Amino acid sequence: MEFHANSRPQTGQPTCLEQNTNALEARARALLDQMTWGEKIGQMHQVDSTGDQVPNHVAALIEQGQLGSVLNVSHGQVAQEIQRLARQKSRLDIPLLIARDVIHGFKTVAPIPLGQAASFNADLIRENARHAAQEASQAGINWTFSPMTDVVRDPRWGRVAESYGEDPLLNSVMGVATLQGYQGSALDHPTSLAACGKHFVGYGASEAGRDYNTTNIPVNELRNIYLPPFKAMVEAGLTTIMTSFGDIDGVPATANDWLLRDILRDEWGFKGVIVSDWDSTVQLITHGIAAGYRDVATLSIQAGIDIEMVGNCYLGYLEDLVTTGAIDGRLVDDAVMRILRLKLSLGLMDDRPVTTTPTPADQEAATKAATRLAEQSCVLLKNDNQTLPLKSKKIAVIGPLADKAADQLGTWVFDGDPSRSITLLDGLRDRFGDTVPFEPVFTSTRDHNQDRFDAARKAASTADAVILTLGEDAILSGEAHSRADISLPGGQEALINHLADLGVPLIAVIMAGRPLVLSSVLEKLDAILYAWHPGSFAGPAIARLLAGDAVPSGKLPMTFPRHVGQIPIYYNHKNTGRPPSPSRVVHIEDIPIGAEQTSLGMSSFHLDIPYTPEFPFGYGLSYSAFDYDKLTINSPHITANETLLVSVRVTNKGAYDADEIAQLYIQDRVGSITRPVRELKAFQRVGIKAGASEIIHFKLTATDLGFYNRKEVFVTEPGWFDLWVGGSAAADCHAAFEVTAA
Ligand code: BGC
Repeated sequence: MEFHANSRPQTGQPTCLEQNTNALEARARALLDQMTWGEKIGQMHQVDSTGDQVPNHVAALIEQGQLGSVLNVSHGQVAQEIQRLARQKSRLDIPLLIARDVIHGFKTVAPIPLGQAASFNADLIRENARHAAQEASQAGINWTFSPMTDVVRDPRWGRVAESYGEDPLLNSVMGVATLQGYQGSALDHPTSLAACGKHFVGYGASEAGRDYNTTNIPVNELRNIYLPPFKAMVEAGLTTIMTSFGDIDGVPATANDWLLRDILRDEWGFKGVIVSDWDSTVQLITHGIAAGYRDVATLSIQAGIDIEMVGNCYLGYLEDLVTTGAIDGRLVDDAVMRILRLKLSLGLMDDRPVTTTPTPADQEAATKAATRLAEQSCVLLKNDNQTLPLKSKKIAVIGPLADKAADQLGTWVFDGDPSRSITLLDGLRDRFGDTVPFEPVFTSTRDHNQDRFDAARKAASTADAVILTLGEDAILSGEAHSRADISLPGGQEALINHLADLGVPLIAVIMAGRPLVLSSVLEKLDAILYAWHPGSFAGPAIARLLAGDAVPSGKLPMTFPRHVGQIPIYYNHKNTGRPPSPSRVVHIEDIPIGAEQTSLGMSSFHLDIPYTPEFPFGYGLSYSAFDYDKLTINSPHITANETLLVSVRVTNKGAYDADEIAQLYIQDRVGSITRPVRELKAFQRVGIKAGASEIIHFKLTATDLGFYNRKEVFVTEPGWFDLWVGGSAAADCHAAFEVTAA
C-alpha cells in the first residue's frame, strides 16, 4: 500500500463525535444539566489507582462523584469494581474512563514503536494495535495513552523508543494506523480503546536529549515538522490528546492556549478530550508561570485542559473559581461535555461488556502479528561478504541479551508478560539445534566484568560464525532514561575487541531502544542486524532472518550518527548558506601548521568528525539488492491543482525474493522560507521476486508539496522541485518538475 503526505484515514471510521451525534448529544446534555459543579469537576479529575484492589480513597472519590477517570488499573476485577461503584454508589452513575499506557502491546508485546516504524508497514502496525486493544480491553481498560507521535531528532533522549522516528510523514502514517487499530471500526465495540495522541507538542525537541528539558522550536519548524502528525491523527478521528511536559516559546504546553485552543480546537476542529500529562498541571508552578494551585487551575482550564492527570488543582480550586466568577463556567461545561461524549461513544453508559479471556485463536493471531512485525522491524546495517544468511549451523551465541526475556520487550511494558517471550537463544536453538553453545559473558549490558572473556573466546573459536547479542537493557531507554554517551554500554566494546582477531565472522544482533553510535566497533563486525527491542517474539523472528528463512526488510526511521557530537543530525535538515561537501572539509590532523583562518573550507562541518551520518534515514540492506531506474513523471510542469504521477522501475537483482521499501523524496528548490534538502513524501513496501522488476506508482498533490509559510499559512508555492526515489534518504534516481500557478 502506498502512503503519502496527503494520506487520509483509510477506514473512514467516524469519530466519536460523529456517531449518533444527536442522540449522544442529548444524553450528554441531559446528564450535564443534572450535575452540580462538584460533580462536573469530578469528571475532570483523574487519579492513579494501582494494585489488585480499589484503594479506599479512590472508592470514596467515586462514590462522591468526584472522579471521572483513573489510570494504571490493569486487573479486570479492579476495573469491574470501579465501574460497579460508579454505577451503583455515585449519584449519577457515570462510569469511569480507565486508562493505561498500552504502548506497544499488552500481554503480547510487539517491537517498541521506533522498531515498528522501521517496518514502514502501517497495515501490520494497525493489526498489532488491534490485538493490543483486544487484550487490554479484557482487563477493563478503555483508554490507552498511545500513540506517541513526537518527532525525534536526538537519540540521546530515552523516549525516542516510543516514537516513530524523525520524519513527520512516518509519524503521521504510523500514528494514524495505531489509533485506528486501538479505536477499531466502532468505538463502542467491547474491544475498542480510546487512543491518545501524545505529547502535544514538541516534547521530542527536549534540549540535549535530556528528558523534560526546555524546547526551542521556531514556529516554522513547529508547523512543518512537529504538528503534522497530530493534525493527521485528528483528521483520522483521534479521540483524545495529551499535552507535553515541555514549553513552547516560553509557555508550557499544559498552559498553552495558542496550541490547545487556537490551533488544536479552532484551526483543526479537534472535538475530543485533552488530558494533561502526569502532574504537568502542578508543574506549571515549577516551570515558574504559576504562583500556586489556584493559578494552575486557572491557567490549565483557560488553556483547554479537560482532564487533570493526577494533580488536585481542579478538584481543589475550580468550583471556587467558577462560583466567584474568576473563570467562565462554560469552560467547565464544555470540558465535561467532551468527557461525557467520549464515555457515551465508548458505550460505557450502556454497560459495555468487558470481554473475557482471550481465545486461543486470538492469542495465535496476536503472536503471529507481533512476530511478523518483529521480523519486519529488523534493519540489516552491514553484511560484508554476505556473512548473512548463515551458511553453517555451527554457531556460537555470545553476549548479554540472547536470553533476556524481559529486556527484549523494551520500555513501557507494564503488563508485558516475559514468561511469554521467546528469546533469541530459544529461537536459535529451535532452528539450529539444542546444542548451540551460549556464553552470556555479562550479567547485563552495563556489566564491565571481563572474567568470562576467555570462555567467550573459546566458544567462538569452535564455531563457524558468532552471533553476538549486544545492545541496551530495556531500562536504558524510555521516560527519564536519557543517555549522553550512546555507544554500547559496559564492556561490550571490549568483548568485540577480544573476539575480533579470531577470524570467525562476528554477527552482531543489537537490541536497543535508540540508534547507538557504533563507529568504533563497525569495522570489527562482519554483519549487524539492528533489532531494536523486538518484543515477545524476538527469538523466532530473528532466527528466521539469520537463517535466511526470511529476508531483512526494515529501514531506519532515524539517522544513525557517527559521533554524539553530530547530534542533532537528521536527513530533512536545511541546506544552510555554506553546506559542506567533500572538497570543503578539512580534518584536524590535516591542518597545516600556520594555516590561515580562511583556508579551511569555510563550510558547515566539524574539524574532527565527518559531516555525514553513519547510516542515513531510510537505510537498510537486504540479502537481495534493488535497482531503481526508469523514473518517469506524467509532466515536468503541473499546476497546483493537478496531480503529479510518478512511476519507477524497481528490480530485485539478488537471489532472494524480498520486500523493498521504496521511498519518494522531494526538495522545493526555492521557497519563501528555507526548505529541507529532502522531505519524504511517499513510501511503499513492495515484494519483488528474485530477478524480477516491478513498476511502482506514486501520486503527489499540492498538499504533498506545500508547507506553512512565515504567516503560518499552508501554501504550495510555484517553482521547481527535485524528486528522488530509492531505498533510503540518499536515493539518487532523480527527476525534476515545476509547479506553475493554477
Ligand atoms: C508520561 C506519559 C504517560 C503518563 C501516564 C507520564 O509520565 O509522560 O507518556 O502516558 O505518564 O503514565
